[in-house]
Amino acid sequence: MAGSLQVTPMLIAPSLLSADPLAMGAAIDALHGDFDWLHVDVMDGHFVPNLSYGPALVKALKKRYPEAVLDVHLMVEPGEDFLDMFLAAKPAYLTVHEEACRHLHRALTKIREGGVKPGVVLNPATPVELIEPVLPLVDLVLLMSVDPGFGGQSFIPEVTQKAVQLCRLREARKLSFLIEMDGGISAATIAQARRSGVDVAVMGSAVFAAPDPAAAVAQARELAAQA
Ligand code: DX5
Ligand code: ZN
Repeated sequence: MAGSLQVTPMLIAPSLLSADPLAMGAAIDALHGDFDWLHVDVMDGHFVPNLSYGPALVKALKKRYPEAVLDVHLMVEPGEDFLDMFLAAKPAYLTVHEEACRHLHRALTKIREGGVKPGVVLNPATPVELIEPVLPLVDLVLLMSVDPGFGGQSFIPEVTQKAVQLCRLREARKLSFLIEMDGGISAATIAQARRSGVDVAVMGSAVFAAPDPAAAVAQARELAAQA
C-alpha cells in the first residue's frame, strides 16, 4: 500500500453516465444498495466534448436516495460559474477541474463554505505539482485516468504514479483527503489502481454495461481487497 492513511476497504462509486438515461432509477436499484458513492458527471460540451446533466438530476437523486453519498464531478468551464447551482443541490462532494478554474483557491473555499466537501480534479496530463498549494483545502483529489468526456475509454496506467505521489504528499503534510480515480476502471485495472494508493474507484461501463451490475461491484470489491 502506498499510503498509511489509505481507507480500507476501497470505496466503489458507480458512474451514472453509463446507466440507461431512460431508466436511471432502475439501474441504481439493480445495485441493491451495494455502492459506496454515486458518481455524477456534469459535462458542458465546452470543457469536454459531450453534454450530460445539470443540478436537477442531483436534486432528484437526493430526493429519491436521501442516504446516498452523491459525488458530483463538474467538467464545466469556467468551473466557478456553476458552483451556486450545484451547491443548492447539496451533494456530499463537489469537484472542480484544476484546468477549468482560474481562481481555484476561491472556488474550493466557496464549496466548503456552501456546506459541501470540496474536491479538485486533474486531467491525465496535468501534474500533481499544480494543486500542491490547495491540498489543505480539499477532502478529495480526483485523478482522471482517461481524458474526460466519455465512458468506456481505456485506462491510462501512467496516472497511477500520481496516486503514489499524492499518498506521499498526504503523509508528509499530515493531510487527510481521499484519492479517487476515474476512467477505465474495470476488473482488469482496479487492482493496479488500488496498489497505487487509490481510496475510491469510479466505475461506469464496467458496472452499468455488465450483464449483472451488482455482481460487477462485488467482483471489484474482491479484486481491490486482494490487491
Ligand atoms: C469520464 C467520466 C467518468 C466516466 C467513467 O469523463 O468522468 O466518470 O463515467 O466511465 P468508465 O468507467 O466507463 O471509464
Ligand atoms: Zn467522472
